Amino acid sequence: MDAMQQDGNEASANVDEKFWRQAGDHLIRYGGSFAPLIIERASGSYVYDADGRAILDFTSGQMSAILGHGHPEIVEVVSHHMRELDHLFSGMLTRPVVDLAAKLAEITPPGLDRSLLLSTGGEANEAAIKMAKLATGKYEIVGFAQSWHGMTGGASSATYSAGRRGYGPAAVGSLAIPAPYPYRPRFERAGHYDWLAELDYAFDLVDRQSTGNLAAFIAEPILSSGGMIDLPVGYLAALKARCEARGMLLIVDEAQTGLGRTGAMFAFERDGIVPDILTLSKTLGAGLPLAAVVTSKELEERCHERGFLFYTTHVSDPLPAAVGNKVIEIILRDSLIERAREAGERLRSGLEAIQQRYPIVGDVRGRGLMLGMEVVRDRASKEPAPELGAAITHRCLELGLSMNIVQLPGLAGVFRIAPPLTTTDAEIDLGLSILEEAIASVLAGGVGG
Ligand SMILES: Cc1ncc(COP(=O)(O)O)c(C=O)c1O
Repeated sequence: MDAMQQDGNEASANVDEKFWRQAGDHLIRYGGSFAPLIIERASGSYVYDADGRAILDFTSGQMSAILGHGHPEIVEVVSHHMRELDHLFSGMLTRPVVDLAAKLAEITPPGLDRSLLLSTGGEANEAAIKMAKLATGKYEIVGFAQSWHGMTGGASSATYSAGRRGYGPAAVGSLAIPAPYPYRPRFERAGHYDWLAELDYAFDLVDRQSTGNLAAFIAEPILSSGGMIDLPVGYLAALKARCEARGMLLIVDEAQTGLGRTGAMFAFERDGIVPDILTLSKTLGAGLPLAAVVTSKELEERCHERGFLFYTTHVSDPLPAAVGNKVIEIILRDSLIERAREAGERLRSGLEAIQQRYPIVGDVRGRGLMLGMEVVRDRASKEPAPELGAAITHRCLELGLSMNIVQLPGLAGVFRIAPPLTTTDAEIDLGLSILEEAIASVLAGGVGG
């Protein structure tokens, strides 16, 4: 956390001895390390450090700020609602809440009719899992072994990519199957990756382990924290069929993929399925804490009859709901779904060009403005090179680009590249050129050998 050591720049305002001492003395560390900068403000596609240096934000904050930082219309909605209608007794209803529930029913396919408005992704998945248990009367929840669904009890029980050790038992009935990973295939037939065979084998194991209480499968369409693993076309449909065959519900978690980022309003649309329960969070509030659980009228009625309880302090809060309405309005009005597709193509071809020039770029994958770039020692061996990924991330930050890398044990580092949907072509080109410069300088410096 010592910015002076990190930057070697003693005059930097990021080197605020009192700030870093207080951070060290008074913050609980919640995972990973802190960037060695003090961020003073954020605007559009940039964040600005204590020296006033602009840093291009290629991760939309924590994968959330799809309209960039400080979007003027969101600022207006927040200040208006702060003045007029902010937070209420949870049993009171307001127009922004009912409007958002109706809007979500309108922009999702039939069968996703009713919403519960909450604050975070973990909370939304918690509620979704509870609804699935209550509606089915069963309790086994299956997820992907590379998943991330949140830090609360039920959501973390279904999270397998990190954080399982040291907290005692996960929820009874927590089961996992491997996510399909075409870049590192485990099931091959005649030289081709056969994800369907992998899925069937995985469900065979689920069936053998199940005590007959399968309630739901929870899936991200692109497993972000698991290494930007994009489910193959048709996978979600195959998964849904296997769930239906067992009387299980399918929960699709679109915390990061929802609201246009992948070039569709929702990523599940590509496969022509409708989840039983959809959860939305990060992108719905575009950086503000807003989440939703969306489900069918039938499922909601069954849960209600059985006494569904998810009464929280911020359920149905009008201020974040009003933000959600504005986010959807802007996405539709400014054709940001098309823009995600177009800008995503530009970003992808830039990354593929970098891949051509540097053998340490093993794979480029993803959809729209949600792309992954896997860093390896060399393309032939695909051997993980975590120190290379870390060095590139560090160098990018020095050069003015905020990049996020996930480093999974035994796997190479994967950059998660997800700029705001409002990003310009010039910003994409700038990010690509900084990334390439960072890769070149790390390789020239011999990092990772
Ligand atoms: C797919 C997915 N679901 C759920 C969550 C949890 O959301 P939150 O951190 O808002 O609780 C995350 C957070 O990274 C996520 O990526």
